[in-house]
Amino acid sequence: MDIIIREDYEAMSDYAAEVIAGFVRSKPDCVLGLATGSTPIGTYKRLIRMHREEGLDFSRVKTFNLDEYYGIGMDLEKPYHLDQSYARFMHEELFKHINIKKENIYIPDGLAKDPEAYCKWYEDQIKKAGGIDLQLLGLGRDGHWGFNEPGSSLGSRTRIQALNKQTLDDNYEAFYKKANIPREQMPHFAITMGIGTILEAKNILMIVNGAKKADIVAKCLEGPVTSQITATAIQLHSGGITVALDRAAASKLEHLEHYLEVERLKREYGFHRN
Ligand code: GLP
Repeated sequence: MDIIIREDYEAMSDYAAEVIAGFVRSKPDCVLGLATGSTPIGTYKRLIRMHREEGLDFSRVKTFNLDEYYGIGMDLEKPYHLDQSYARFMHEELFKHINIKKENIYIPDGLAKDPEAYCKWYEDQIKKAGGIDLQLLGLGRDGHWGFNEPGSSLGSRTRIQALNKQTLDDNYEAFYKKANIPREQMPHFAITMGIGTILEAKNILMIVNGAKKADIVAKCLEGPVTSQITATAIQLHSGGITVALDRAAASKLEHLEHYLEVERLKREYGFHRN
C-alpha cells in the first residue's frame, strides 16, 4: 500500500490527478472507476485542465461510477444546485469538459424499474469492459465506500442499499439545506457497487482530506478489518493500492512518520510514480 501524504488539499489533488492521468496516458482505452463527493472535485478540475492544455485524451476511456441515489435521475432542465443526482454531478464536474464519449460513461441508473436485474446488468458491463483498471474512491465519514454503509458484507456486489443516519445528515447539510429542499424529499436508498465489486478493481486510489476524517482514516488503514467500517476492506485488496491524504486527514495515523519515510525512500531509490 502506498500511503502518500501531501501538505494540503491542492497538493493531494495534484497527486491524484497525476496518477489517473498516468493510467490514461499509458492505456488510452483504460477503464476508470469514478467517485462523487466534495473530495474528488479538485482532482477532476486538474484532469480537465490536463485535457485542455496538454491534450489528455479520454476518447477511448470507459468510466463506471460507484453509486447513485435511488429514485432520482439527472434532469438537465433543472439548475445544477437543484439536481442532486450523481449523474449530474459527474456531468458538471468532469464529463461535459472532456472528450469522453457518452456511450462510454456508466453511472448506476437511479430510476431503474427493476433494480435487482439492473444491478446485475451493471456488474456484467464492468466484466464486459475487462474490469476496472483504476478505481478512485473517497471515504464517507462513517468509513464507507460508495454507499456501502456499516454492516455491508465485505463480499457485497452492486445492489440497492438503505442509507444510514450519518450519511443522510451529511447529505442534508451538504446539499438539501442549501437548496432549501425539505428533508423528507431526500432519497433514503442508493444503488452502489459492492465492496466485493470494488475489490476486483485492479488498482485502487483512495483520496481523503480534512481533519474531520482523521479518525476514520486511522481506523480504515490501521484498525482491524470490519464490515462496520467497509473501507477497511482496502487492507484486503491484492492489486496496486494508493492512498493520497492531506496532512490533516493523516494527522491521527499512528505510523505517520514511517509512511513519510517510506515515501521518501521510494522516491530516493526511484520506486515511486512521482
Ligand atoms: C458519499 C458518496 C461517497 C463519498 C462520500 C464522501 O457518501 N457516496 O462515495 O466518498 O460521500 O464525500 P465527501 O468527499 O464529500 O466527503
